[in-house]
Amino acid sequence: MTTKELGAMEKSAKRADTVQDGFRAAMSQLAAGVVMVTCHLDGKPWGLTVSACCSVSMEPPLLLVSLGRQTASAHAIGESGSFGVSVLGESVIEVARFGSSRGQPKFLDHFCHGDIVCESPAVGGALAHVDCTVEQTVAAGDHTIYIGRVRDVILEDGDRPLVYHAQSYHRLGEATDLHVGPVVDETVDSLLYDYPIPREFSRVRSLGA
Ligand SMILES: Cc1cc2nc3c(=O)[nH]c(=O)nc-3n(C[C@H](O)[C@H](O)[C@H](O)COP(=O)(O)O)c2cc1C
Repeated sequence: MTTKELGAMEKSAKRADTVQDGFRAAMSQLAAGVVMVTCHLDGKPWGLTVSACCSVSMEPPLLLVSLGRQTASAHAIGESGSFGVSVLGESVIEVARFGSSRGQPKFLDHFCHGDIVCESPAVGGALAHVDCTVEQTVAAGDHTIYIGRVRDVILEDGDRPLVYHAQSYHRLGEATDLHVGPVVDETVDSLLYDYPIPREFSRVRSLGA
């Protein structure tokens, strides 16, 4: 970016009226994948559309999801101690819409895989399903963070991931000139990701050691 472009950007930068407004607007710019967090409610498959999901650790395999404290899903998962995460692709966008209908029942009977044997309900046609037991629960403001230990994984292919950005669903674009890997230091491998960690991070680590 040129100094001129940077200057123009700084001039258009502004602060939102409230921290809440600014926070909401800032987070809406963070493009995210979309998952269905699944559980059982009254013995039937139930799901909630969620973007606050990420991997936490590889050894042991852990992931986290952050759910509104008052949601039926948070209550059910708190009681049962287990949940599933179906990673949604473009072909199941209607399931994503269904699982985010505020105040509506979100029973997934029609959307679940009949032939996959897994403790948590798995959305049919999802890119992957990760079955977890609750390892840790963290109260965080109006949300509850569930850290799940992965006990089973089912993979499917053939679809493209669903992306959420600025209150809309998007499709991941084809490779562009931005499609470059990180700058790498071959001597340090990240445990969590299947590519070496960026050079700056590895240098900080070795200086501190
Ligand atoms: C793309 C997308 C991502 C969402 N991510 C989350 C999330 O990470 N955590 C959460 O609690 N709700 C999330 N929601 C909202 C829930 O899907 C749901 O609308 C809301 O919790 C209302 O559920 P309720 O009817 O059980 O109250 C998301 C909604 C959409 C459309």
